[in-house]
Amino acid sequence: MTSPHGGDGGPVLKIDTSKPHPARMYDYFLGGKDNYEVDQEAAEQFIKAAPEVREAVRANRRFMHRAVRHVVAEGGVRQILDIGTGLPTEPNVHQIARAVAPETRVAYVDNDPIVSAHSRTLLDDDDTNTAVVLADLRDPRAILAHPEVRKVIDFDQPVALLLVAILHFVTEAEDPDGIVATLLDALPAGSYLVLSHATVDIHDTEREDAVKVYNNATATMNPRGRGRVLDFFGDLELVDPGLVLVPDWRPDEAPEPGATPIGIYGGVARKNG
Ligand SMILES: C[S@@+](CC[C@H](N)C(=O)[O-])C[C@H]1O[C@@H](n2cnc3c(N)ncnc32)[C@H](O)[C@@H]1O
Repeated sequence: MTSPHGGDGGPVLKIDTSKPHPARMYDYFLGGKDNYEVDQEAAEQFIKAAPEVREAVRANRRFMHRAVRHVVAEGGVRQILDIGTGLPTEPNVHQIARAVAPETRVAYVDNDPIVSAHSRTLLDDDDTNTAVVLADLRDPRAILAHPEVRKVIDFDQPVALLLVAILHFVTEAEDPDGIVATLLDALPAGSYLVLSHATVDIHDTEREDAVKVYNNATATMNPRGRGRVLDFFGDLELVDPGLVLVPDWRPDEAPEPGATPIGIYGGVARKNG
């Protein structure tokens, strides 16, 4: 354990450096500095087994940018519940959304204390439109009932639920379908689900070595096939082009010829009724 201060005079943050954390490995893949030796070693093992991972996480982030712009600009949503926020990486969700609609309210939820601590430093003292909440996706009712979430999210108005590169950290035994259904049930018509999810559909079995790296981390990696990822959208209506590999979801520019395939599906869907 290492215990840096959470800020001048702020609470001491206990950081577990005994195991790799998905948020810190993701930060390392993105070229960030909020990671430790244990995360760097695990991330390097992952890169060895899946050399395209750095491009994959950037493509996932760019998908999230385009999807958030879509739900705010085209979908008219002004509230975002982002579960599995990750460590701050500019531009963050609230910055993307507020570039379109400055009044957009955002609740950030993550179960890693380092994410909450760093995310809080992003917020101005007078920012009453953003909440940072330490909670676990596997207890969706606690997220929906959380007073800090309820301070910024009005569940009578449409909400964009972001589950971006998080659901593959939930095992089948933990009932990912039940978790997503509970969250979607709480949202009114006009709400959206923005989801991305790792897959090994497009790669060969060598990716097993990459997946195994997470066996020693605080959460395991559970890639799923396209049909299984589609299940999570339930009866929501997928917007064009449907569930596709993230670089193919409404790209801003044409993909480079011969670009490495990226094993992450992404989709955006609207709740109509
Ligand atoms: C790969 S990062 C994705 C970050 C961001 N959503 C993005 O796509 O750029 C996954 C995040 O999910 C968080 N996470 C993993 N399992 C979680 C759980 N059960 N509850 C809440 N957060 C979780 C991790 O701490 C990490 O910050």
